[in-house]
Amino acid sequence: MCGIVGYAGSEQAVPILMGGLAKLEYRGYDSAGVALQQDCGLTVIKSKGRLAELRRQLETAGDTRGTVGLGHTRWATHGEPSDLNAHPHLSQDARFAVVHNGIIENYIELKQMLLEKGYTFQSQTDTEVIVNLLAYYDTGDLLDTVLKVRNKLGGSYALGVLSAAAPGQIVAVRKDSPLIVGLCKSGALMASDIPALIAHTRDYYELSEREAAVLTKDGARFYNVNREPVSKTPYHVDWDIDAASLGGYEHFMMKEIMEQPRVLRDTISSKIHDGEVVFPDVSLTRAQVEAIDRLYIVACGSAAHAGMVGKHVIRRVAGLSAEVELASEFRYQEPLLTDRSLVVIISQSGETADSLAALRYAREKGAKTLAVVNVLGSSIARSAEHVIYTNAGPEIAVATTKAYSCQLAVMYLLAVYLGRALGRLSDEDNASLLKELQALPDKADALLGCKETMQYYAAQYYGAKDIFLIGRNLDYAAALEASLKLKEISYIHSEAYAAGELKHGPIALLERGTLVVALAATVSMADKLRSNILEVKARGAEVLALAQEGDEKIKTVADALFEVPRTPDIFTPSMTIIPMQFFAYYVAAMRGMDIDKPRNLAKSVTVE
Ligand code: F6R
Repeated sequence: MCGIVGYAGSEQAVPILMGGLAKLEYRGYDSAGVALQQDCGLTVIKSKGRLAELRRQLETAGDTRGTVGLGHTRWATHGEPSDLNAHPHLSQDARFAVVHNGIIENYIELKQMLLEKGYTFQSQTDTEVIVNLLAYYDTGDLLDTVLKVRNKLGGSYALGVLSAAAPGQIVAVRKDSPLIVGLCKSGALMASDIPALIAHTRDYYELSEREAAVLTKDGARFYNVNREPVSKTPYHVDWDIDAASLGGYEHFMMKEIMEQPRVLRDTISSKIHDGEVVFPDVSLTRAQVEAIDRLYIVACGSAAHAGMVGKHVIRRVAGLSAEVELASEFRYQEPLLTDRSLVVIISQSGETADSLAALRYAREKGAKTLAVVNVLGSSIARSAEHVIYTNAGPEIAVATTKAYSCQLAVMYLLAVYLGRALGRLSDEDNASLLKELQALPDKADALLGCKETMQYYAAQYYGAKDIFLIGRNLDYAAALEASLKLKEISYIHSEAYAAGELKHGPIALLERGTLVVALAATVSMADKLRSNILEVKARGAEVLALAQEGDEKIKTVADALFEVPRTPDIFTPSMTIIPMQFFAYYVAAMRGMDIDKPRNLAKSVTVE
């Protein structure tokens, strides 16, 4: 969702801001703009559409010199994507400029108050209310003014503020929306996410809730909620610039699919020591694990699909019953939480608003919270009591691939960890499961060779109107994720069904030639699934089956078969998803879609 970049220093700001915004494109946006502090005052240049359009406007704008500025990519929430609604926004008197990520929930009341004071508004945004509040409450000191306005705002915000009367300064403040600050030789930067800073620094400071920062060419000063100066310790990322660039691939999605063997190896090997699963940032005692009364796995989208796999695996391996809940629904289900409940939140970005809200709700109810997160220092990682990091590295493509695979790996590891802590996993079974788990990266590597085969199937079906997926149990959980990949990047209508459910309604949708992808990798479900394949074939569907190598019986029923490496049933989602990621990728490519930045989608969903 919206991306923010700010720079206060001694170099020209426009190239730095545009470079940073380009690195935030993956978050999804529909308009973009920059604000500059110039000798003549504040200048704002912005436009609907992609950064290329903004670049054109900057080229024809005349003087764009200035060493302090803000940049923004907007993902519309209040008001349609348009030049006027694009950020930055200027106050009516042009003394303040603001970029904002988040949603101001009380903006209607605040706007009404300003209207009564004679303010007028150009845009439909909540952000224009903030910038005019700055003008209204101006104390003459930028930090003071921002803090005064911050106290009036309800909802979520990451804000960057420029004032014509405070040359050389940016003030930043945040609540429930991510914002980081980095220092470089020529000054200080701020951004919504690390890729925007990585060309300038690998050390960054995370602003805590309601903290503020003042950026100048001499560095950054941080202030807590009471305006007292605070000193902060930077986080360090060891990614190189290549990690956030295409490295020769046409799309980040393909690059990230291809990285899966390596990131799986990193995630798995860093959590197995001396033959046991060890999570350095989890401090649950054995007694606490034994006392767990309910286990909830809470997440959104693909992360929830990883959670569904987790539910099955935790039950099978640790003998513990788990429930999976969508984060956006969790609080409203009135979940039965006690101080013995464990709530596991899964999130790549660590910033998903619904997941964060679910986590806070669980904490308020006294439950124990464990976050499975990819982004170090993200809000979810910082708000949970216990954390397990997936080591997927930066994921840029909007559609998740490698982070989902690492989430699966953590689900397996968590199941083993819980099984051991509960004394339900013998030494022998523990050793054999960990051996199989450690073999997954090599099997994933072997699967990368299936690229061309899936490209071939994609060429046959890229014109399809609908594509259905079926599977049972773990295959069904994997089918949900495969179907989401197809929908979000190819825009083909796709649904995943638990195979046994088809005849209760959805089978009516099948027509002659409809593609049904049958995920048939779990051996324990194979016989039943073959019957379901015959049912759909009898209605004219064409069936592409994905099964484990050596499954001879499936050959007799499927029209086409793709074989995945053999692995115990519980790990099969990690095998079937890779060919399905390739399939979705090639279908989208053949349909000419914007693979890394699908329409209407944002990488980091920071609004509820
Ligand atoms: C789909 C996808 C989304 C995310 C979801 C949660 O490809 O990426 O469904 O899984 O928005 O995001 P995180 O994991 O950042 O909480």
